[in-house]
Parts: sequence; structure tokens; C-alpha cells
Amino acid sequence: MKKRAFSGIQPTGKLHLGNYLGAIKNWVKNQERYENIYCVVNSHAITIQNNPEELKQKTFELFAMLLASGLDSNHSKLFIQSRIDYHPALAWILDCNIPMGDMNRMTQFKDKSKKNPKNINVGLFNYPALMAADILLYQSDFVPVGEDQKQHLELTRDVAIRFNEKYGECFKIPEPLIPEVGARIMSLDDPYSKMSKSNSSENGIIYMLDSKDMIIKKIKRATTDSLNEIAFDRERGGLYNLLCIYECLSNKSRSEIEKSFQGYGDLKNALAEAIFAELEPIQQEYTRLTSEGGYIHGLMTQNEEYIKDIARTTYEKAKSLVGLI
Ligand code: TYM
Repeated sequence: MKKRAFSGIQPTGKLHLGNYLGAIKNWVKNQERYENIYCVVNSHAITIQNNPEELKQKTFELFAMLLASGLDSNHSKLFIQSRIDYHPALAWILDCNIPMGDMNRMTQFKDKSKKNPKNINVGLFNYPALMAADILLYQSDFVPVGEDQKQHLELTRDVAIRFNEKYGECFKIPEPLIPEVGARIMSLDDPYSKMSKSNSSENGIIYMLDSKDMIIKKIKRATTDSLNEIAFDRERGGLYNLLCIYECLSNKSRSEIEKSFQGYGDLKNALAEAIFAELEPIQQEYTRLTSEGGYIHGLMTQNEEYIKDIARTTYEKAKSLVGLI
């Protein structure tokens, strides 16, 4: 039997190359290897997103973008988190089994609170419990994510192990699947901070729907250094980031890549071409899919019964184990 992969992505901001290379590209690549369940986590999004119409629109757009990126309904079950009520229900049971100290350590909460001090809500603090519920409901073997989710995965594993020991066997203990390359794509204009939907500078981010001209412009302006020597050197953050992006998109080894370019100009031209070559077919498919809105809306609910059955079985078990009637 195939192992099960589960992951989620938030419909906030605009999807970028970090999301694609750190997560989605790998979901697509491993589609035939695992039994896959992928979720648009719109309930997580309301921790920061508070425009209802925009949230609905972004949920639709993200769903379409996942399909356009190559997730295929024959291999991957896609669904919308808020349609399955077992997620917040299990999150509550987990909440009551997560020590405050563990939750207090979550760095994403600290980062997000700093970025948006006017909207620090309890949901934002509690976010990792809902994420743990997403994963544990589906008895997931693997969770393919970028590196920034590692700490949330550790919390998920800890709460699952603790729960199983205290109440009896209930959850499978999931393993994170973090890619060797592309797990942490950095901002193009600040290579020491992560490319992120909430980055202040748009110049540092390649969006999935950026035009070719826009990609060329952003890559040309990307921060490098004055050495003009091509080498995978972590100390040279800007160059290292560009080389890692190129490595994700080409099938070349690091030493081949190092020998391929004369200088930074040469690398940047090839990189912009490679990014656009990867994104162009996705953009075309996205335009085609979103112009047939009804088709996407149909797919958004297509897997619900299947998903609900798995979630119900786990939830009922957890509920009964803790003594809820
Ligand atoms: P989100 O929506 O922020 O990001 C979606 C995925 O993209 C990855 N990612 C990156 N990878 C490489 N470089 C980057 N710069 C970069 N930025 C983002 C993220 O690691 C993620 O894999 N908490 C999750 C959503 C979630 C989830 C889940 C994930 C909710 N429930 C259950 C897995 C399982 C998040 O905010 O992802």
C-alpha cells in the first residue's frame, strides 16, 4: 500500500516561487509515489485575513493554481479545509494536550506578531494546533513542506506521541518531507530573510503570475556581491539563493552549474529564462482553468465525502479516547 502524503497551503497573499519550489513542485513530482491529500487551509488564513470577499476569491484562485501547477485529480485529493468541521473539533482536543510552554516557543507566531502588531489574535497563537489537527486527522505518513514549517511539524509529532501514550493508540506519527534544495528560498533583495507572502518589498519576490519582463527585471536587480565568481557558497547569500533556484529548475549538478556561467550577468539571464520556462505553462493553464469558473467550483467539493470519512474515523476515535460522549 502507498504511504500517504498530506500538506496544506494558505490562501493569503499571492503565491510565489518559494511556495512553488519549497512545496508544490514536490507535491507534483511525488504524486505517483504516494497517496496524496492536499488542502487549501482557509481557516488558517482568517488568523490574518479579514476581508471575506477577498478570502473567498483567494481560496478559489489558490485551488486553481494548484491544479494548474500539475496536481491531478487522479493522483491527488484536493479539498478546502473549512468544509470539514473535524479540523477545528480535533484542534480543540489537541489544544487541551499541548503545554503552553511548547506553544510559546513557536517562532512563526513571534515573527507574524512582530510584522502585524495590531492583529495578534488567539487564533494566530493557536495556529499550530489546527495545523496538527489537519495532519493527524488523515493519519499522514509524510508532510511535504518547506523548512519554515519544521517547528510546527515537531509540535505535531510531540502532541501525537503524548496523546497516544496517555489515552491509547490514535494517531500515526508523521514525518516531515523537506526537500534538499529549495526548502528555504530567500528574498531576492534581502537574501537573509525568507521569500514570503508578507514581505514588504515586492522586488524580492517572484510571483507565480509574474510576466517575463517582470521576472527579468527582478532577477537583474537581485542582490549579489562584487566577486563575480560563480560558486555555491552559503556565505554569499544573494548568489547562493540564485544558484539554488537555478538548481531546483535545472537537472544539473552543482559542479556543472558552477562551470556553466561566466559571471553574474550570464547566470541571471539564464535564471530568468529558466524561471519563465517553468512558470509559463502554469500561467497558461491557470488562465484557462479560471476562465471556466464553474469547473473549478465543481472540483472544490468533489473529494469531500472521501475526505470526511477519513477525518470522521480519526476524530471519533480521539473523542472517545478522551472520554467525550
Ligand atoms: P504557507 O501557506 O505559508 O506556505 C505553503 C508552503 O510553502 C512553503 N514555503 C516556502 N518554501 C521554501 N521557501 C520559501 N521562501 C517558502 N515560503 C513558504 C511552506 O513551507 C509551505 O510548505 N502552516 C502552513 C500551512 C498548513 C499546513 C498544514 C502545512 C496548514 N496546515 C498541514 C502542512 C500540513 C503555511 O502557512 O504554509
